[in-house]
Amino acid sequence: MDIQSEPLVMVIFGAGGDLTWRKLIPALYNLFLDGHLPDRFAVIGVDRKNVAEDDFRSRLRDGVDQFSRRGKSDDKAWQDFVPRISLINGDFTGSEAGENLKGRLVDLEKEWQKPSRHVFYLAIPPALVSAVARQLDQLALCRDCDRERLVVEKPFGRDLKTARELDRLLTARFAESQIYRIDHYLGKETVQNILAFRFANALFEPLWNRRYIDHIQITVAETVGVGHRGSYYEHAGALRDMVQNHLLQVLCLIAMEPPVSFGADEVRNKKVDVLRAIRPILPEEIHKVAVRGQHGAGVIGGKRVCGYREEQDVAANSQTETFVALKLFIDNWRWQGVPFYLRTGKRLQTKISEVVILFRPAPHQPFPSTAVESWQPNRLVIRIQPEEGIIARVQAKQPGTRMLLGPVDMQFLYREAFRALAPEAYETLLLDIIRGDATLFMRADQVESAWSVITPILEAWDSVPPADFPNYEAGGWGPEAADVLIARDGHSWLKPGIHIEENNGDFP
Ligand code: BG6
Repeated sequence: MDIQSEPLVMVIFGAGGDLTWRKLIPALYNLFLDGHLPDRFAVIGVDRKNVAEDDFRSRLRDGVDQFSRRGKSDDKAWQDFVPRISLINGDFTGSEAGENLKGRLVDLEKEWQKPSRHVFYLAIPPALVSAVARQLDQLALCRDCDRERLVVEKPFGRDLKTARELDRLLTARFAESQIYRIDHYLGKETVQNILAFRFANALFEPLWNRRYIDHIQITVAETVGVGHRGSYYEHAGALRDMVQNHLLQVLCLIAMEPPVSFGADEVRNKKVDVLRAIRPILPEEIHKVAVRGQHGAGVIGGKRVCGYREEQDVAANSQTETFVALKLFIDNWRWQGVPFYLRTGKRLQTKISEVVILFRPAPHQPFPSTAVESWQPNRLVIRIQPEEGIIARVQAKQPGTRMLLGPVDMQFLYREAFRALAPEAYETLLLDIIRGDATLFMRADQVESAWSVITPILEAWDSVPPADFPNYEAGGWGPEAADVLIARDGHSWLKPGIHIEENNGDFP
């Protein structure tokens, strides 16, 4: 599709929110600067709060200055970009804002003298998605399957049942090909590179199975707390906010079978196969395979931070989890018996997302025992962020007159290998939506399978409130129970972002 020739309007519901400010507008601004948007392009923000358009635009510029990968916005470029942004104040589910939006879309088409593509982006809390989708349908605003798209942010529903209801509602009104269920992790360069790394190199695939891999650890650690998002997060928690989507999607890319092609459905089929093969968690086993935590106060990077319960819009006795650790198994030929340990949390020591593949030890050790004191099995670290790269740890002879083995790292770092700044995840994904490429988006069955994996845990946790919250200090690595979970199998969490010296002796 020739993106340049067709006019484009991006309508953002929830335009006053964090996502628009931090991610969507900085991404659109960068796409604009890189010449990826057509000349006839507009953004219409819709928000319930009554805000003057100028104030709205200034706030968006502040977001670009803070969060754009290019740093502070350039005056001239911003002046070219900003007239394209307008705002509709009001509740879209009421008739006035809806008619107003419809009128503006018609006016733009008249001005441009050409039908436009419309992207309706729902950057709104999950509870409002159905109402806005219904209203779009009633106003006949998203009927053209080729030109009109609906983007739904995660979490998609609250559990399996509500996700199915939402799917029914959406698919009764819009074609599946119009619905883009977004998970921004899939737009990250390093996450996409997992596919390139696994399937463009012949080196790793033969080792990528239960015969050579001992276990896999996936960590997504954040130093930030919930910030202004307390009211959303109170209803979500880490399991819905991070595990159901980001962590399970990363797991799918690590565990999926090689696709026959990179067609959207082919890749998504292979990912669904993984989710379906995850061993169902029995209610009586949940305490052995799932750990929840909530952070208290603590110190991160020398700064004191408050506990979750002291955050804005969070209940003083909140039982929402800000940390989750899980152990999962994938019941198929490739992965039978290989544990996948997942953990994510807010207010942890360092911001880091990485996957560590821990290989089995070499089957025979011909070296004298004195040579192998600091010997470790191989491992491969796929660092998603920051310091994006891939690190393979191998054993090498240490220089000297004796045979002494020690671990060394072979590293590929994005910042060293490539000069160009990588696009932000939202840039990639917005462009894919505009182009109509759904490969990096979740299909309904993927979302439902992911909910099936975690719904037993959600139900068990809802029925038994946590007795020990808050159970980890901000600035640490989560509750002790998470260490116990992995220690039961004779393993330990690797300190993410490790250097060799720090991690010596880390292996059992
Ligand atoms: C979002 C979650 O999807 O991902 C946030 O809702 C989380 O709670 C964020 O902070 C993390 O994204 P990233 O790109 O900073 O790892």
